[in-house]
Parts: sequence; structure tokens; C-alpha cells
Amino acid sequence: MNKKSIKDVDVKGKRCLVRVDFNVPMKDGVITDETRINGALPTIKYLMEHGAKVILCSHLGKPHNIFSPGFSLNKKEKKAIEALPEGEREAAAKEYFKKALKDREKFSLRPVAEKLSEKLGKKVVFAADVIGPEADAAVASLKDGDVALLENTRFEEGEEKRDEALCKKLSTYCDIYVNDAFGTAHRSHATTAAIVEYGFVKTAVCGFLIEKELSVMADALEHPVHPFLAILGGAKVADKLKVIDNLLEKSDSLIIGGGMAYTFIKAQGGKVSKSLVDDEKIEYCREMLEKAKSLGKRILLPVDAVAAKNFPDPIDADIETKVVPANAIPDDMMGLDIGPETAKLFSEAISSAKTVIWNGPMGVFENPKLAEGTKAIAKAMAETNATTIIGGGDSAAAVTSLGYADKMTHISTGGGASLELFEGKKLPGIECLNDKD
Ligand code: 3PG
Repeated sequence: MNKKSIKDVDVKGKRCLVRVDFNVPMKDGVITDETRINGALPTIKYLMEHGAKVILCSHLGKPHNIFSPGFSLNKKEKKAIEALPEGEREAAAKEYFKKALKDREKFSLRPVAEKLSEKLGKKVVFAADVIGPEADAAVASLKDGDVALLENTRFEEGEEKRDEALCKKLSTYCDIYVNDAFGTAHRSHATTAAIVEYGFVKTAVCGFLIEKELSVMADALEHPVHPFLAILGGAKVADKLKVIDNLLEKSDSLIIGGGMAYTFIKAQGGKVSKSLVDDEKIEYCREMLEKAKSLGKRILLPVDAVAAKNFPDPIDADIETKVVPANAIPDDMMGLDIGPETAKLFSEAISSAKTVIWNGPMGVFENPKLAEGTKAIAKAMAETNATTIIGGGDSAAAVTSLGYADKMTHISTGGGASLELFEGKKLPGIECLNDKD
């Protein structure tokens, strides 16, 4: 990688503002998956051990609404409320504040500060604001080797809007900016890129997590050991247009599973009945099938499907399913997972590859009756000696919950970010960092 890392700069006695991705899943204030916290530990520990003052910041979720300090309505809400008849405005404003206040608790990073204190064996100072008096005091209190965590950056309206004033204020907290938030590196927000792009911080380097994610994934994409197999799943073709295009060029074979396979099968003239189909993308699928042919590449599609009459509601409902040919689904049914023949076919393709990357589940894996396809892919990837890379998100969760995590070469901490890498895009959170001399 041609970007500077924390090892390329002297951090002793310096205040380092470290953008991490602590966007962790939580249930009732309890963190249910600590992967992203663990992923940031090497960087945090290195900085502590080398005498830096560590100021961590991260977003968490998508809070219902974002306050600026002083609890004023943001512009969007203001507009929505002003559009209401006069008699309804007061109640709507109250409702808005109620929801936003709830989100203030629900999306607070305080539980992460507690978890991190446990993991580091040292108290992490938590500031209940991002650039307010608590953050000022927390930063001022740090001695070399100490760590502070600021509150959810998305409580600041300016985070996603790349607000200059927010960036400027944050820059007063640091001598060095460190980005180690791989999962958020595709976002061009105040704390992920703008603070450096505006020139408020001159020294901007990456942490170990970003360095590792990039070296493994970029290397696999640019210099794969062949045969190189890419597996894509997920619901919609529209979300993966550029990924399909790019991976078709880079890989030798491309497996398409999940809901988006049915648009491809329809494009080939198959009967997919009530399955999810993106009619506007049929032509695109035909083009991709043609492109594969002309490049001499293989696109592997499901040959059978686990079908049901309706989408399960709730998602884990006990539904009646039937295995049917993927291109001849009965009129009243929809394909919701790959069938056993397909699982075999895809597993064989995995076992004969030397590099495999995977993003997106094969079916509605949240439902036990529709999880077998995703499980089969995870198992085949765990059993091969090939380089295996899981591109974050649902596939990472599936692999981890099945106990295969330590059997993979690399599991990315970023779903959206790794997809954008697979698309061949540059990530703003990485582009903004200082180049190596
Ligand atoms: C993620 O979970 O993909 C990252 O933390 C980015 O979160 P976002 O999609 O809310 O920007």
C-alpha cells in the first residue's frame, strides 16, 4: 500500500484522533458482536504503547435524528414539520424530539467505552458529546498512553454533511489523524475524510486494520492465484451492477446466488414465477452473460431452488418449502434459497479454485429452512486450501455464526467498503491519507 501508516510517524506525546468503526450490533445496550472492536485493538494498543494520547471517534447506526448541540431541529425535520398544517406542528415537533432523545440512548457509544476498557485493562475516558465541553475536557485530561472515546459522531448533524466547522473543531483535538475504520472508508464524511481533505490536519495515516484489509483484498483482486472464483449473493442486482462487471473481468468464474440470481435466470428465458426479479435489469443481465461468453469466463447460476409460496413473515417463520428447478418455478412459488444440486455444484467450483472471494448470502438465511445454501458455501470455503476472503456483512455473520471464522484467510470488517473495493472504486477514507515518501 502506498499510504503512510502509524509506523511511519512519531506518535510519542502526540494527540492522535483515531477514526475507528465501532458500528457494532447491539441489543438492549449489549454488544452482540465484538469483531469490529477487536479489529481496532492492534492500532489502539500500538499507540498506547508508543506514548500517544489516543482520542477515538466513530459513528454507531443511523440515529433517527441528529442534534447539533443545543437540541435544535435539523433542516430536514424543520421542513417536514413546516409542511404540516399549523395545528399539527407542535405535536410533530414533540414527537421528533422524543424519538431523537430515545436514539441518543440507543445509539450511544458508552457501552463500547466500557467494553473497550475491559479489553485494554485500562479505563477509557468516555465523552458524552463529540465536540462539546465533555470532549474538550476528555482530550485535555489525557496523558501519554491514555485513551478517550468521543460520543457517536452521527449525533452531530455535520458528520454526514462534511461540515467544515465540525472538522475544524475536531482538528483542534489532534496532532495526527489516524483512520482505522475500514468498514466506513467508503463514506466521505467529516471524520472519515473531510477533516483531512479540508487541510485541517496535515499528518494523516492509516492504522493496522485498514492496512491489513487492503493488503489482503487488493492483493487478491489484483494478483490472484488462479483459478479465481468470485461468489456474489444478496437480493438485488441493482445493488451489485458495478461489482458484477468488475469481478467478471478479474475472476475466472463468477457464481451468482441469492435473490439476484432470478433476474439472471429470467434473462436466460427461465420461468421464475413469484421470485424477486428486477425487470429493469434484465437487459443488463443479458449483457453480463454475453460479456462472460466473450471473455471466456463462466457465470454459474442456480440449477435448483428451495421455493415457498410466500416470503416468510416473520423472517424466521416455519414455512413449507419445496425443491424445484431454478428455471421452472411453479406459478404460485418463489425461489428463496439455492437448492441441494446447486449447493453441490457451487461447492465443487469452490474446491477447484485457488482464490475465492464471497459477498452476500445465497438465500434468506435468517430462516432455518432457507439457510442451507449459505451454510453449504461457508462449509465449502472452510474446507478448501484456497485463499478465502469474506467481504463482510451478512456472509461474515453467517461464517462466524457457523463457527468457520478461523478457517478463512480473511474476514473483512466492512461489508459496504469491501463491495466498493470489489467494484474497483477508490475509498475516500483511504485516498485522503498521506502518501508514502
Ligand atoms: C457499515 O456497517 O457498513 C459501516 O459501519 C458503515 O455504516 P453506514 O452504512 O451506516 O454508513
